[in-house]
Amino acid sequence: MGIRMSQESSQESLWAEVDHYFAPLAVEDEVLAAANDRARQSGLPAIQVSASQGKFLHLIAQLMGARRVLEIGTLAGYSTIWLARALPADGQLLTCEFDPAHAEVAARNLEAAGLDQIVDLRQGRAADTLRELVTGSVEPFDLVFIDADKPSNPEYLQLALQLTHPGSVIILDNAVRRGAVADPDSTDAEILGVRAFTELVLATPQLSATAIQTVGVKGYDGFMLLRVTS
Ligand code: SAH
Ligand code: DHB
Ligand code: MG
Repeated sequence: MGIRMSQESSQESLWAEVDHYFAPLAVEDEVLAAANDRARQSGLPAIQVSASQGKFLHLIAQLMGARRVLEIGTLAGYSTIWLARALPADGQLLTCEFDPAHAEVAARNLEAAGLDQIVDLRQGRAADTLRELVTGSVEPFDLVFIDADKPSNPEYLQLALQLTHPGSVIILDNAVRRGAVADPDSTDAEILGVRAFTELVLATPQLSATAIQTVGVKGYDGFMLLRVTS
């Protein structure tokens, strides 16, 4: 293992230590912990947002007074619980999950969280679900969290633009991928998806955006934050 690798791993343990130091700010209660336990026991990949990131999403939803949230990529419903708990009693969260096994675990977690009335879990390809929502002229969403298959990111943004209103917020997870996003020669389909998303943002005058790099228990990654201006 070279010097670069060992430096990286000691950095990573420091990032995790800092997340643990701040953990009391973003307390994962027994419902959230049980949701992750069930996900692990069911063999789902541990790629959910961290507790700090979940609380960040929760605070954004509250800060903007979001009433309707759209989530693309449910997994076991961990980020879903953080977001749904930010909503008022008449709030609604619609979340899309392709994998039936993931959707089943999520459904159980959302029921255990007492959120099955607020959350509408749609199993299927997210792009199909979103197109149905566009066709059905559903009430626009205030906040969209994009966190599914990365090659589809540009398609999700195009659909999200048809499902939002001026003032809506869109958050993209995994915008940095250990810095790989900045590699213009990348041939990785996931990186190409994030880079095409950025290009689409740049070509869309009604979007105002920034990207924030993050480190922590999930390593080095980042969010893109977007506002629909008109
Ligand atoms: N937001 C979750 C993590 C989502 S992981 C959390 O932070 O807790 C990404 C999820 O997207 C996986 O469960 C994967 O099955 C799902 N996914 C992948 N391709 C998809 C597609 N085409 N449509 C909907 N969901 C998809
Ligand atoms: C990974 C992390 C994510 O947040 C995600 O949505 C997909 C994959 C990962 O660490 O591999
Ligand atoms: Mg993610």
